[in-house]
Amino acid sequence: MGKPGNLCALPCLFSCLVSVLLAQRVKVLHEVTGYMGKEVVLPCEFAAATSDIKVSQVTWVKESGGRKQNVAVYHPDHGPSYPMEGNQSRIHFRTPSLGDATLVINPVRMADEATYTCEFATYPLGNEDGATNLIILANPTNTAEAKEVKVGNTEQPVAVCTSAHGKPPARITWQSTLNGNASVSQVKNADGTVTVISQYSMVPTKEANGQPITCVVHQQTLLQPESIPVTLSILYPPEVTITGYDDNWYLSRSDATLTCSAKGNPPPSQFIWSTTSGPLPASVEVQGDQIVVHKVDASVNTTFICQATNRVGQVSAEQVIFVRDQPAKRQSSSAGALVGSIVGGVLALVILGAVVVFVFYRRRPRANKGSYDPKMRVFGNGNAPPPVREFAELDRPLKAAPGRSQEEYNDYEEEEEEEEEREERPPPYGYAPRRLEDEEERYDQLGPMLRLGSSCHGYEFDDMESQHDGSIISKTAVYV
Ligand SMILES: *[C@@H]1O[C@H](CO)[C@@H](O)[C@H](O)[C@H]1NC(C)=O
Ligand SMILES: *[C@@H]1O[C@H](CO)[C@@H](O)[C@H](O)[C@H]1NC(C)=O
Ligand SMILES: *[C@@H]1O[C@H](CO)[C@@H](O)[C@H](O)[C@H]1NC(C)=O
Repeated sequence: MGKPGNLCALPCLFSCLVSVLLAQRVKVLHEVTGYMGKEVVLPCEFAAATSDIKVSQVTWVKESGGRKQNVAVYHPDHGPSYPMEGNQSRIHFRTPSLGDATLVINPVRMADEATYTCEFATYPLGNEDGATNLIILANPTNTAEAKEVKVGNTEQPVAVCTSAHGKPPARITWQSTLNGNASVSQVKNADGTVTVISQYSMVPTKEANGQPITCVVHQQTLLQPESIPVTLSILYPPEVTITGYDDNWYLSRSDATLTCSAKGNPPPSQFIWSTTSGPLPASVEVQGDQIVVHKVDASVNTTFICQATNRVGQVSAEQVIFVRDQPAKRQSSSAGALVGSIVGGVLALVILGAVVVFVFYRRRPRANKGSYDPKMRVFGNGNAPPPVREFAELDRPLKAAPGRSQEEYNDYEEEEEEEEEREERPPPYGYAPRRLEDEEERYDQLGPMLRLGSSCHGYEFDDMESQHDGSIISKTAVYV
């Protein structure tokens, strides 16, 4: 056997030089690496210093395990001879001659690994030789696969990575976020190569199903480590639920549907529907994992069972169906609620607008004696609740404040007038106890008013303002 570990280029180069120098006239390489199945060349030349040296025969001797065999002989009269090989084409002299004894092996086999001595029979010096170690490497075939296992509590191999027929033996590692262990075994093959098998073991959980894991093979003949991705496959029985029941199956309802939703590995392929009261009613149509009731009748007032089956198991789920005489009265669907709230919001804005317009027209004649003045301060506090007396008191010194224009002063005076008017009226809501009858009456008046737009009469803004809350809007919304 050769020295598989000593493959670095530098020591080789050094040894080669040394061997060339020592062998003097026989030029060989100290070490040659061949790849299994490929061609390998063992160079050998005889450099005669003078023409006085006569070469009569060339011989390659293979020495392996203490055994010596002649593998190739060349004699100028008799030509090349290959004593070991029936098939001359696998091992042969590159150019049969006395000067160049270079040997070619193609395809090279693992069994060719040996020390080869190139011998020249010379006269008068006698035999001269040089030796070459032939090292054979084998490129492994790497594969990885998931092992389908059932969910369970005991650790077992879930993935296997194999680096077959390599030389030297491969080193296998795993890249994974899973909490598992790798165990390695090696098999020596008849051809001298090694097959390395790494098993990744873990407790197989449902969650591990579909998880990625990568086998990485490191080996000398590979330019870079080879990564092989694997997706784990943990088999588990179906997980079944029945979906589609909306709790509103009523007599004569059309196209009520139930769906049997089942996860599992492998995915459940077979669904069997039945009921607790026996086989499926005639009004039920089975469509694979679904049942469709085209017209609901009393016969489906029962409990439906869906049984899902995969390779691992059979699991059932049940759904109780309650058939009503009438459709269920519901608040509204969520879409309906959304539309309702939008309509309500728009209505609220319309009412608010109507109120504002109403106030404006209501107050304008009093504030400005018939002519519209955009600087009018009606809106300044017109929307606020009726001013409490203290605010008016606080405001009063403004009248005397220097630098106020006559216009502002006039505005102020007008407000003062309004203030007094208000005080003569009954206090607005919030200041006096209300009477329910009054409120009812106002609702009844407000509804038609809003339907007719702002053409309403005899309505006190201040009253409306205090009414202006959610209750009045929703009341009105019912009218509209
Ligand atoms: C001789 O070697 C050649 C080339 O490898 C191969 O194709 C052929 O089958 C071999 N024949 C015998 C008899 O071994
Ligand atoms: C991994 O192997 C070690 C020792 O062989 C063992 O103690 C440990 O329980 C294993 N862990 C898992 C997750 O299999
Ligand atoms: C369905 O069965 C329930 C009792 O399980 C019963 O109250 C109901 O009236 C039945 N519906 C119809 C439509 O028969």
